[in-house]
Amino acid sequence: MATSPTTQLEILRELRQSKGDFVSGAELADRLGISRMGVWKHIQKLKAMGYEISSHPKGGYRLEEVPDSLAHGEIVPNLQTKWLGIPYHYLQTVSSTNDHALLLAAQNAPHGTVVVAETQTRGRGRLRREWISTPNRGIHVSILFRSPLPVRVAPQSTQIGALALVKVLRETFGLSSQIKWPNDVLVNHKKVAGILTEMQSDQDFSRFIVMGIGINVNHTAEDLAGPFRYPATSIAIETGLPVKRQHLLIQYLRQFEQDYELFLHQGLSALIPQLEEFSEILGKTVSVTYGDREITGRAEGFTPEGALLLLQSNGQQETIWVGDVARVESAP
Ligand code: BTN
Repeated sequence: MATSPTTQLEILRELRQSKGDFVSGAELADRLGISRMGVWKHIQKLKAMGYEISSHPKGGYRLEEVPDSLAHGEIVPNLQTKWLGIPYHYLQTVSSTNDHALLLAAQNAPHGTVVVAETQTRGRGRLRREWISTPNRGIHVSILFRSPLPVRVAPQSTQIGALALVKVLRETFGLSSQIKWPNDVLVNHKKVAGILTEMQSDQDFSRFIVMGIGINVNHTAEDLAGPFRYPATSIAIETGLPVKRQHLLIQYLRQFEQDYELFLHQGLSALIPQLEEFSEILGKTVSVTYGDREITGRAEGFTPEGALLLLQSNGQQETIWVGDVARVESAP
């Protein structure tokens, strides 16, 4: 007998192909090479996962409604990528999808491995901040890369990850979304997503990189009522409509793969015009903390490698490779 997730995927495929007609248990059993009791057991498991499947003593089974789940069955058959999401790891609960991806990396998981969880018990952000992972409301995903990159430019994955989401939010949801360099995605000046990139390196080159993104999707204002450093929002709050997370995740992975390939072939410089166009901070006075320093200046632009150029009031220009923008003031 085939293993459960594969068999469940096959049952879902058969039910979808029947286009609203009932499929008999005997037919399913025959096609999948399992007993009718086996079919029934898998149907119960699918129901427990949130699939609405009606059964008829003579007719068999019919798929009525799919859950807003990020499980294999809803994502893998619909992926529009060449290498991203192969393999795709889905977990109900995990400490942190980044931790899990780092663990898989140490076990030789391939480039493009994706880890998704419905909730995280120790989701984390930059500077060891906590990332609130409300079950079944958000998207928590980590992507493993094995392209060896000079350590200094490896954090560029963060900016590619942010840009991909901004494009999807603009194109699919009509939201005027912006990037707060380097790792926050905003909508109407409120944070809708954050990115945490971690890596392991051999001297000057990365051995592997894990980029994790947390997206506030169907969160309500109450879910986001915590004392955040930056005001938070969700896509549902901004659009006024619930969002199918599976649709968003599929679009995001497709866009990310496209941008990442461009980056690999042409470098980040090919994406700088878009990073500048969608920047929240360019032309504004910002305070940036890095290490134990905080400097304030006008955000002038980005270098071809994605570092921030900051013009201080004494006329001195500073190039900042990694930092945290604490305050953004509008241009006078
Ligand atoms: C930040 O805003 O500082 C970054 C937040 C990153 C959160 C995501 S959720 C998926 C992945 N797993 C984690 O533990 N963190 C990232």
